[in-house]
Amino acid sequence: MPKYNNKDLKKMDRIKRLNIINGITGVKPANLIGTLNKKHEIQNCAIMSSIVHLGSDPGLIGFISRPTAEIRRHTLENIEENGFYTINSITNDIAKRAHYTSAKFEDDIDEFERCNLEPEYLSEFPVPFVKTSPIKIGMRHLESVKIEKNQTILIIGEIKILSISDLIIDDRGYINLEKGNICGIGGLNQYYKLEKTHEYEYARPENTPGFKKLGN
Ligand SMILES: Cc1cc2nc3c(=O)[nH]c(=O)nc-3n(C[C@H](O)[C@H](O)[C@H](O)COP(=O)(O)O)c2cc1C
Repeated sequence: MPKYNNKDLKKMDRIKRLNIINGITGVKPANLIGTLNKKHEIQNCAIMSSIVHLGSDPGLIGFISRPTAEIRRHTLENIEENGFYTINSITNDIAKRAHYTSAKFEDDIDEFERCNLEPEYLSEFPVPFVKTSPIKIGMRHLESVKIEKNQTILIIGEIKILSISDLIIDDRGYINLEKGNICGIGGLNQYYKLEKTHEYEYARPENTPGFKKLGN
């Protein structure tokens, strides 16, 4: 079993290191971010696997944008210029098309059109959603936090509108990703089907598997 220390990682081939480091944290959520350019003329769509829940009240979601020094990041530019964006779950049937949104397109290319993804506008929300996604989240940008160590940027936004397919949510608000055919991402190019295997009660110390009732 290979063991690497940080010096080994530093001198490793860049692509191999990138594959390893992107893969070691396990399955990541698969989402497409929808935006519009400044003049609201060009639709943009980009796959992002770094989306993370930041809080429920208010509903906050973050994601990490790569550094902007050498390459223009249309998603980041659009979000910072327009203030709105959408987060859309990726299903297995659109995973391939979603993957190709990661290509470096020129800024006058409609990435929905180019990747054969259908846009949808909901409730006068100003930017496009992905029509077939079972979970669609309309976001307003709150802040961009630069991570000094590697110049990546944590984009934080609040949920303004939310659309969830009836087929995947129950009365308690539990969401079943398997029923939605939603996929997961390993590394930067591995796509997984998700299978729900268990559901557990709220964890209390007295219900833990190793708990022994003392004195009873
Ligand atoms: C599976 C996968 C996950 C990705 N996740 C991210 C991410 O979390 N953050 C990011 O900045 N780029 C991520 N990318 C790269 C972007 O999709 C890519 O840079 C894309 O060109 C951005 O498009 P834009 O210039 O229209 O914003 C990912 C790419 C792939 C294939």
